[in-house]
Amino acid sequence: MRRKLIAGNWKMNGSLAANAALLDGIKAGINQPVCAVAVCVPAPYFAQCKAELTGSPVAWGGQDLSVHESGAYTGEVSGAMLRDFGCTYVIVGHSERRSYHGESNALVAQKTGSAIKSGLTPIVCVGESLAERESGQTDAVVGAQIDAVLGALDAGDVNKIVVAYEPVWAIGTGKTATPQMAQDVHAMLRTRLATKNAAAATSVQILYGGSMKPDNARELLTMPDIDGGLIGGASLKAADFLAIIRAV
Ligand code: PGA
Repeated sequence: MRRKLIAGNWKMNGSLAANAALLDGIKAGINQPVCAVAVCVPAPYFAQCKAELTGSPVAWGGQDLSVHESGAYTGEVSGAMLRDFGCTYVIVGHSERRSYHGESNALVAQKTGSAIKSGLTPIVCVGESLAERESGQTDAVVGAQIDAVLGALDAGDVNKIVVAYEPVWAIGTGKTATPQMAQDVHAMLRTRLATKNAAAATSVQILYGGSMKPDNARELLTMPDIDGGLIGGASLKAADFLAIIRAV
């Protein structure tokens, strides 16, 4: 049985005061979650997460990392720096990084390797645009995204990644993939993982992301290959994030 994971993606939101209120709200309501829980936060707030979340059931992580270990890379943050602040996860290849920062499949594959090397669990994001879905390209696009990552990964490291299927047209739009649409892509992804390491493919968590909310979480999370959620907007309100955790 795969343990489910509910991970918040705060994106570029937050302040010390707002985060304190949000984290307090999550901690106060979380009790003993049946699933793994994490928040992926802007780098300046790693220290705050370490101070507020150590000893709680909530893990924390980043939203990107450099492929370099150190050196003259102005503005970049390394995996070791994330580890220094107790991060266990890092989002890699989010569609906003791919589209606004030109991150290619090859770079995302490299970042996945850097995360593993640093001892972080990469949450590798894949997903098609609306035009790609409407022209029947979903499996080709998403397949190419995951294949690039698998091509750069040692077979023995397949079980060190988390995959997040996030259809671009569902991110922040209020439009969600139907449970069956998501399940079909998740099953395809697991088949691809199995070509690299069949045993690991059965244990890799594949999250769904894209307008997952308290009112649609349960039906998505009951699909056989949906192992959790990567939650944007709804992770910024403690009540909504907790409701999704309770839907597991
Ligand atoms: P959303 O974002 O839940 O606001 O759609 C998800 C994501 O981008 O990870």
